Amino acid sequence: MTTTSVHPAWLPTEAWRPIGTRRVRVDVTGTVRDEVRAACALHGGELVTTGEADLILRIGGADGYAITRERHVTTVSSATHAGLLHGLFATVRMGESAFVPGPRIDSAPAFARRMLDHWDNLDVHPVMGQVERGYAGGSLFWRAGALRTADLPRVRDYARLLASIGINAVALNNVNVHATEARLLTDRLPDLVTLADVFRPYAVRVHLAVTFAAPIVLGGLDTADPLDPAVRAWWSVTLAAVYERIPDFGGVLVKADSEGRPGPFAYGRTHADGANMLAEALAPHGGVVHWRAFVYNHRQDWRDRTTDRARAAYDHFAPLDGAFAGNVVLQVKHGPMDFQPREPISPVLAAMPRTRLAMELQITQEYTGQQRHVCYLAPMWSAVISGAPAARELAGVANTGDDPFWTGHPLAQANLYAFGRLAWDPSLAPETILDEWITLTFDPDDAAREALHAIMDESWRTYERYTAPLGVGFMVRPGHHYGPDVDGYEYTPWGTYHFADRDGVGVDRTVATGTGYTGLYPYPWNEIFESLADCPDELLLFMHHVPYTHVLRSGETVIQHIYDTHFAGVSEVEAMRERWQRIKIAPDVHARVSTLLDEQLRSAIEWRDQINTYFFRKSGIGDIRGRKIY
Ligand code: GCU
Repeated sequence: MTTTSVHPAWLPTEAWRPIGTRRVRVDVTGTVRDEVRAACALHGGELVTTGEADLILRIGGADGYAITRERHVTTVSSATHAGLLHGLFATVRMGESAFVPGPRIDSAPAFARRMLDHWDNLDVHPVMGQVERGYAGGSLFWRAGALRTADLPRVRDYARLLASIGINAVALNNVNVHATEARLLTDRLPDLVTLADVFRPYAVRVHLAVTFAAPIVLGGLDTADPLDPAVRAWWSVTLAAVYERIPDFGGVLVKADSEGRPGPFAYGRTHADGANMLAEALAPHGGVVHWRAFVYNHRQDWRDRTTDRARAAYDHFAPLDGAFAGNVVLQVKHGPMDFQPREPISPVLAAMPRTRLAMELQITQEYTGQQRHVCYLAPMWSAVISGAPAARELAGVANTGDDPFWTGHPLAQANLYAFGRLAWDPSLAPETILDEWITLTFDPDDAAREALHAIMDESWRTYERYTAPLGVGFMVRPGHHYGPDVDGYEYTPWGTYHFADRDGVGVDRTVATGTGYTGLYPYPWNEIFESLADCPDELLLFMHHVPYTHVLRSGETVIQHIYDTHFAGVSEVEAMRERWQRIKIAPDVHARVSTLLDEQLRSAIEWRDQINTYFFRKSGIGDIRGRKIY
């Protein structure tokens, strides 16, 4: 793949019709940054400095942007060059309606930082490959240990894509920081400088994932103890050197004491000690530490019923509320486990009012079909975002790579698009966002638009139906996490169990008889989750262990629900595939999605048959509708 064969995404140059045919004046009376002028020129607008313009970009006013539409002239204004850029992109989304007189539009982002986390390795990792949990080809930035300098134009296109949906921060490497990647902080810093230069015109600040052991592995010290003066000095000097080269460097992202990564526990220190040390080194430069709350015991004994992985982040972090420095952002996965298709909202997000919190979502579809299945995630995200008002930032694990479609599955682009749009405005309806994406990407006729909605709107719920039932989670093949393996994790150290036996299934997380997890929620959620009668069906097996004959709120028994949803899920995928066969769309997109839908159907059938058979054999209870179970 070369940079010239980049497949159009939702912002192909042609999508700039509203700008391309307009005369644009960048109002030079303010302090408009050259970047905005350059971005505008890049998108084909005819720049005029005097005389009549159709679109005026003007610095002034509030954060975010305002658009006023008068006869013959539309004006975008913002206090910042980033806001101006986002306003410019808003006019693109609006199309011709941006140039029809109408009420003033004021728009400001709900989340101050809207960040993408790339899990890209520089070297090809022997198990995880170039991009950990990446399903869209190789890294956009690195190949076999080296920066892809010849492909920087594509990185620029990518920066533009991100800016167009309001993303303003990007972490460029994997949270699991291996030996080569660690060096981005020191002798490989020039790579970061180059990439920061590419992202800067689009108001996207770069961040770096660092290893907590850096003072040892890079600095030659014999400790990384956060309270050791030499360690603190090393971080100060090292980070100051980064700021010398990248004055708008965003800061560092840290996965510590998690899944074998080094951290402050080795020195008897707390996570606050670790994070605050880095915060102190970054503070003079205006940088932040994103410290991940994904901390749990991954060497659990499956016989031990007292340890509950779902509790871990809360137990580690809630007691530290108020102990973190002001420029520490605690980054919390949206659920208590690990990006399953259905999880309750992490109780950490409601337990730390004196801590800056970021919610972490997974755009890359590790557990939601790995960009081989259609799974539009905005409905899930919309619900979890509205359920966690304390989160001030949103971070998403990127689903992009050097695939010509950017995301492997062409329809997975909608997830990236939706992430950005929800981070700007979480009140947008998922189907509205999807509609925008469909228009900008395909400009389809009515039939194709309707078919795309029919395939995508409900695709997350379809995926949920044919995979692990009622919120119990996992049941995936260990390691790569694709496809069914009901007991794959049941006797492993990872803390991901379902406890199915001949009588019932589910994890008792109640206060009364279980792990006490439900008690970590504020009222009324503690009571709702604790109560078998009130717990929402979709989370029942996450919160309770019940007999197969337990009657759900839907009126169905658990076992019959399992059978029904799994048959329904497969039928829905069959319907998706049929619709797709009839849709009129770009041939290369059609071909790619057709192949992937074949795989999705194969996989859904495998899920259905393994799950149904497993529970039929465990329970001995047949399907009341008499369908084929093996
Ligand atoms: C999951 C994922 C890992 C990743 C980890 C994390 O466990 O499978 O690949 O490193 O999450 O979020 O740190």
